[in-house]
Amino acid sequence: MGKKVEGSSYMSQNPNRHIYTKIYTENNVTLDKIISSYDRWLINFYFSLIDKYGTGKDVLDLCCGSGSLLLPKFHLMKSAIAVDFSSMMLNALKRNLIGVIPDNLKLILGDANYLALEEGIVDFVYSITSLYHIPNVDKAIREAGRVLRPGGIAALELGNLYSINTIVCDRYFKEQSWAKSYHIPYHDMRRFLSQAGLKVLEQRSFQLTPNYGVPRSLFYLQPVAGRYLKRILGVTIHGRMLDEYISSLWPLKFFSFRHMFICQKQ
Ligand SMILES: C[S@@+](CC[C@H](N)C(=O)[O-])C[C@H]1O[C@@H](n2cnc3c(N)ncnc32)[C@H](O)[C@@H]1O
Repeated sequence: MGKKVEGSSYMSQNPNRHIYTKIYTENNVTLDKIISSYDRWLINFYFSLIDKYGTGKDVLDLCCGSGSLLLPKFHLMKSAIAVDFSSMMLNALKRNLIGVIPDNLKLILGDANYLALEEGIVDFVYSITSLYHIPNVDKAIREAGRVLRPGGIAALELGNLYSINTIVCDRYFKEQSWAKSYHIPYHDMRRFLSQAGLKVLEQRSFQLTPNYGVPRSLFYLQPVAGRYLKRILGVTIHGRMLDEYISSLWPLKFFSFRHMFICQKQ
């Protein structure tokens, strides 16, 4: 029996649902346009996690978008559930499937904070480039923990409130209708994971300085947030990007934006 779905009023209050359904298109989340070696490295890093923990397993892609990180790896999985609250994104995913939806793939239109799923049904849950767009993300983290089997693995990417990227994203939201960010303080990340019964096995940190450009009104941040930084920070040394070495240093990591936590359900 499925879990009772709560939070429908909450869903309608979250501005990102409208933005991701009506303003964004699948082109905003496609990987086809990725050309920098920096972004390519990150995408390969995400795929390596999915390979490692998702092969032969029951998997949940939380906030799957158009399936960019799921579909290329789906053939390795025993089964997959893809959840997103944007009908536009799920329709794009269906189109990207090219053909019928396989029996071992379940698509769910729903909010990550209120999953209509039973507990303990997947071995691996991942949420990539998404959780920092969710208000009260502790709920989504708890849901990720709830649906995992004991011993299962979660790869959850969280965004730090006290980062330069927060200033940039807030401005992009106000001026260009980018998704609204709901970044959380660094010290809340591990607390929320622990409250969800998730023990951190590994943490990978990135983007002390964002490198996706800045809106004109924040021109003075260009030196620390310009796209040109990708070329420098994307240099790899022993398999890791310079960006990661810098963003992981104590105490700089408390101000880095992107943190990937690989956790085990206790
Ligand atoms: C930047 S896209 C990333 C999509 C995908 N994870 C990827 O990396 O290609 C963020 C996705 O999160 C979804 N999303 C945001 N908030 C959500 C929520 N509260 N519940 C479910 N999906 C959500 C959006 O609809 C969008 O598809």
